[in-house]
Amino acid sequence: MGYIGNKEAQPLLFKALKKLEYRGYDSYGIAVLGESIGIHKDTGRVGALTKYVPSLAGLMGIGHTRWATHGEPSQINAHPHTDCSGRFAVVHNGVITNYCELKEELIREGHNFISETDTEVIPHLIEKYYRGNLEAACAETITRLKGSYAIAVIAQTNQQIVVAKNGSPLVIGLGDHENIIASDIPPLLDYTNRVVYLDDGEIGVIDKDNVKISRSGKEIHKSVSLVNWNAEDVQKSDYAHFMLKEIHEQPKIIQHAINGFSLDEFPIVGTDFMGNKGGKGLLILACGTSYHAGLVGKYIIEELLDIPVRVELASEVNHRERMIPVANAIAITQSGETADVLISMKKLMDTGSLTLAITNVRGSSASRLATKTLYLNAGPELSVAATKSFIAQLIEIYKLILLQPGIKTDTKKQLSLELKLMPNYVQQVLDNEQQILDCAKQIAHYSNIFYIGRGINYPIALEGALKIKEISYIHAEGFAAGELKHGPFSLLQPNTPVVAIVNRDFTYDAMITNIKEIKSRKAPVMALVREDDRETEKLTDMIINVPNTHSLFSPIVNTVALQLLAYYTANELGCPIDYPRNLAKSVTVE
Ligand code: G6P
Repeated sequence: MGYIGNKEAQPLLFKALKKLEYRGYDSYGIAVLGESIGIHKDTGRVGALTKYVPSLAGLMGIGHTRWATHGEPSQINAHPHTDCSGRFAVVHNGVITNYCELKEELIREGHNFISETDTEVIPHLIEKYYRGNLEAACAETITRLKGSYAIAVIAQTNQQIVVAKNGSPLVIGLGDHENIIASDIPPLLDYTNRVVYLDDGEIGVIDKDNVKISRSGKEIHKSVSLVNWNAEDVQKSDYAHFMLKEIHEQPKIIQHAINGFSLDEFPIVGTDFMGNKGGKGLLILACGTSYHAGLVGKYIIEELLDIPVRVELASEVNHRERMIPVANAIAITQSGETADVLISMKKLMDTGSLTLAITNVRGSSASRLATKTLYLNAGPELSVAATKSFIAQLIEIYKLILLQPGIKTDTKKQLSLELKLMPNYVQQVLDNEQQILDCAKQIAHYSNIFYIGRGINYPIALEGALKIKEISYIHAEGFAAGELKHGPFSLLQPNTPVVAIVNRDFTYDAMITNIKEIKSRKAPVMALVREDDRETEKLTDMIINVPNTHSLFSPIVNTVALQLLAYYTANELGCPIDYPRNLAKSVTVE
C-alpha cells in the first residue's frame, strides 16, 4: 500500500497494513520519504508490541506485508527493497519469473544484491534506467519483467508514488488532498469510497492532488468507481475474531441475498450460462473453499437440471497443455483475485468459452475479465478461512439454478420456500453454539480427525476438514463415506475421531452402516444429525444437532455447524484464528 498527502505517513501505513494482513503476514516493512528514504522492516506481524520501531517522518510512503515465495521470511527479504544507493524503494506483489537472468545481468553491470527475493531486481532496474524521470524509468523497467506484479515505487527526488501492474491487483483510493493505493479495498475505506482500478499494462503517477494514468506512454481517462463497503465492515466489533463475526453474519447475508428474490425478477444471466450447448456440459473452476462450493453446485445442477457438470481445481486446469473446450464456465472466487482462477479463465476464454464469475469483490480482476459477473454481497471477508463467502456462494448458486426453465414448477416452488427459511435455520445452528463448543473441547486434543459425508454432503466433509486444518493445525481429511473402506480404514484407531454428516435422504442407511463399521474399529464418532434423528444419536459418541432442512439445502446448516466446530477447536488450542500459519487469504501468485 502507499500513502501521499498532508499527514504523517508512518502511522497511516501501519494502520493500513494491519488491514491488509490477511493477504500475508510473515514479515512487513515500510519506506517513508523524509529528507531521504527511511526504511523499517521486520519479521512477524505488523505492530507486534515487543518490537522496536524507529520513527520515520514524512508525508508519503509505501508499505507491504509479505507472504514469502522467494526466500524465507526474514528482515532482509521483507519489502520494501531498494537499489544500491537507496534512492528508490519498491514494494511488490506477485512473482517475477525471469528474475534470475535479470539479476545476473545486473550483477555483471555492478549492482549489489542482498536478498533472495525476485523483487529486488525491480529497484535495480529502475536505478539502471533512471535519467531524471521516475515514471519513464518505471515504464522501461516493466518492459523487462515477466510474470505477475503490482508494484509501488518511491524515489528520493520525487513527491510521487508510481504504480504499475500486471496480473496482481492494485486499486487507487481518491481522497481529499491525499491519495492512497493498495492491493485491496479495506485500507482505503478510512479515507474514501471513490476508487480507480488499475488495469494490466497501465502505469499510475500519484501525488497528493492528482492521479495520472497512462498506457504505452499515452495518458488515459479511467472511470471512478464507488465502493459500497464502509469502515465498520472491516472492524471486529465485539467479536474475538473476524472469523466468529463472519460466521455470525451469515443469517443476515442470506436474508439480504433472498430479499426480493423472485423467480420472475431475478436480474441474472438467464440461461446463457447454465445450458448444455453442444452437449459439452458446464465447467466450474475454483480453488480452496470455493472449489467445495462448486462441488455442491455440480450436485444440484445435475440433480435438478440434468446438465453434466465438471468441477475442476483452477490450479490444475491452469497447467493443462490442452484445454477441453466448453461453451460455458463458471469461475467461483471470493476475492476475484486468485491467480490460478484468473489464468485458467483467460485460457478458457481464449478457446471461445463464455465465463460467469461468482465473486464477492466489485472491480476485482475476475469480475473485469468474465463475460458476466454475479456478486455475493457478503461484505468484506477478512478472516483467512472463508466462511460467509462460501455460504453466499451456495445461495447464489441455488438462486441461479432455481431460475432455470428446466425445473418442474412444484420443485421450484418447494425449494424457493425452503430457501426463504434458511436464515432461520442458520440462526438455529448459531444458537446451538454451546453444544458445538462442548464437542470442540472433546476433539481439540486429537492429532487426526476424519470427516465423512455422502452425496451433496461429501463436499461439506471436505470443507469441514479444510476449515479445521486451516485454523487449528489438526490434521484432518474429508472422505466420501463409502471410500473409507478403500484405504483410510487402516488408519482408524480409538484416537482418530470421525465426524459423520448424517443426512436424512437416500444416503441415510448407507451412512448408518458406515458409522457401525467405524464404531466396530473403536474409533469415536461425532455425528451431525437432524434434531429428530434418535437412531444416530444412540450409535455415536458426540452429536451436533442441525435443523431439519430439505436435503438439497442441508450443506448450508452442516457447513455452519462445522465452521463453528473448527473455530472453537482452534480457540481451545489458542491458535491465531484469523491469521493461520503460512496461509494467505488472496493467493495472487500461481
Ligand atoms: C486461499 C484462501 C481460501 C480460499 C482460496 C480461494 O487459499 O485462504 O480461504 O478458499 O484461497 O480463494 P478465492 O478468493 O478464489 O475464493
